[in-house]
Amino acid sequence: MNRRSSTILETAIEAAQRAGQVIVERYSAGHTFTVKGYRDISTEVDTAAEAIVMGLIRDRFPGHAILSEEAGGSQAGSGTTWVVDPLDGTTNYAHRLPGFAVSIGVLEGGVPLVGVIYDPLHDRAFVAERGGGASLNGAPLHASHVPELGQAVVGTDWGYDDELREQVMASLRRISPRCSTVRTLGSATLALAYVAAGWLDVYYHLRLQPWDAAAGVLLVAEAGGRVSTPGGEPYRVDLPGCLATNGLVHDEMLALLSPRRHAGHAEKTG
Ligand code: IPD
Ligand code: CA
Ligand code: CA
Repeated sequence: MNRRSSTILETAIEAAQRAGQVIVERYSAGHTFTVKGYRDISTEVDTAAEAIVMGLIRDRFPGHAILSEEAGGSQAGSGTTWVVDPLDGTTNYAHRLPGFAVSIGVLEGGVPLVGVIYDPLHDRAFVAERGGGASLNGAPLHASHVPELGQAVVGTDWGYDDELREQVMASLRRISPRCSTVRTLGSATLALAYVAAGWLDVYYHLRLQPWDAAAGVLLVAEAGGRVSTPGGEPYRVDLPGCLATNGLVHDEMLALLSPRRHAGHAEKTG
């Protein structure tokens, strides 16, 4: 860990924890909703948490770019970009369903350098630094050792629009008969952290935003897992679809997510 990235990491953890404190304090209160799109809402807590995170980053790193869900901002360029989801799992949060997190990823030249996902209800800080491994509250994390899809717990999420949900349904028709079971948690960032922790063996999402994935994909990779697009290309945070696995069941998932493309493998694995 070099000094610069460790300062960035410390700030990311501090920002996520400060935002998380406000998120938990207001968890039981009634919320003011803004409808951002079809089935897509945000609350006043999303913006309050975002202000805390962005304030700390601007204070400590005034030259860095920030891309944050509610405020928008710069796309990842050649420099350092903080990619922030101040409250991931807003629908869960607004329904008082436990399952939400603060996610802060830092990219350098578009490549993840640091990732922090903080679950404030459980005080769990999932942390990764490129080349430095992944940890949960300081204890090392490793993706699961489940060797085949038949034993795997697979996570996914629905997204918002009807066409996307049809695509998710179609993928589940292929995947659910082949795996142990399927979970939809309603927080993409927590699900990616759970793959890094080995609590889920697979997570895929057909249409993620950069702030949903920037921290989580680094966590999975640093925990020994594998990340790609659902078609098997190298994943980048500006691409919509993401497949994150323990590595061992990745090819089986690719064969089911892109059956035509991976026809040879699908036939071999039967
Ligand atoms: C959403 C959650 C959800 C996923 C959606 C995301 P938000 O983020 O991660 O699990 O299915 O696509 O938009 O809106 O709660 O930050
Ligand atoms: Ca999100
Ligand atoms: Ca959000």
